Amino acid sequence: MGSSTAQRIVERGYAEVVLLDIIEGLGQGKALDILQSAPVLNAEIRLSGTSDYKDTADSELVIVTAGLFRKPGMTRDQLLAANAEIVGGVVRNIVKYSPQCVILMVSNPLDAMTYLAVKVSKLPRQRVVGMSGVLDSARLSAFSAAELEVSPKDVSAWVLGAHGQNMVVIPRLPTVKGKPLTELLPRETIDTLVERTIHGGREIVDLLKTGSAFYAPSAGIARMAEAIILDKKEVLPCAALLDGEYRIKDSVIGVPVKLGRGGIEEIVELDLSAEEKQKLYDSAEGVKKLIEKMGVG
Ligand code: LAC
Repeated sequence: MGSSTAQRIVERGYAEVVLLDIIEGLGQGKALDILQSAPVLNAEIRLSGTSDYKDTADSELVIVTAGLFRKPGMTRDQLLAANAEIVGGVVRNIVKYSPQCVILMVSNPLDAMTYLAVKVSKLPRQRVVGMSGVLDSARLSAFSAAELEVSPKDVSAWVLGAHGQNMVVIPRLPTVKGKPLTELLPRETIDTLVERTIHGGREIVDLLKTGSAFYAPSAGIARMAEAIILDKKEVLPCAALLDGEYRIKDSVIGVPVKLGRGGIEEIVELDLSAEEKQKLYDSAEGVKKLIEKMGVG
């Protein structure tokens, strides 16, 4: 996921990227391979690979994809203990060399890892954001577009809540050219699309057997990275540590976030019904259970 993210970012040309892997040679090899595509693409690619955190010093944005991924039959939550250990060490190294950075967390279980990154980095909560809502929304858009035989560009979906079983899909929010999905498809069809979205990652894990998704996740990361680096002030669904927004405190879930150079510049509070708010609250409570297990709360 890290190398495809690096590829997407350097091909757009707006940032210099350092690709780090603790396995000596892996970051360097991937970087060299991507660099050699520059003449063919007629692109100016600024990229290097390393296994030494020193080379990442003074980064503006650090994207964390480190950690184990699921095997068929596993939930993301089963990665908690192993990935908490890995991500904790990674985050300590990040802030040692880039104390002013924004951290974009991608490791799973995403919401708990984002919480861990805030606590371990001791950065303000605005500077740590997680990627899952862009991916989950893209999955719902892609499935809806295929069902309706329209361009995915015309489907705007908002998927909130935790990245997992407790994802919150509010059926009235997705729209096709401004029309709510609920006016275009029968309820049962929408339920099937929502169910497929919630298990979108697992469907790919089951097919690949030895890996998890990376093309769509890296597209989601690159979209968020661009909003941050180019200070776009774009509102996207992102995992954020909440402090009273949506009546949720001290937990991380996906909510609409305005992204800019400072990271999370605003948490946008949608006008939700009491039932919808409750769904978000329950989703955040589920993440709290994982946080308690990690013992970092
Ligand atoms: C997925 C992984 C990245 O949803 O969580 O594919």
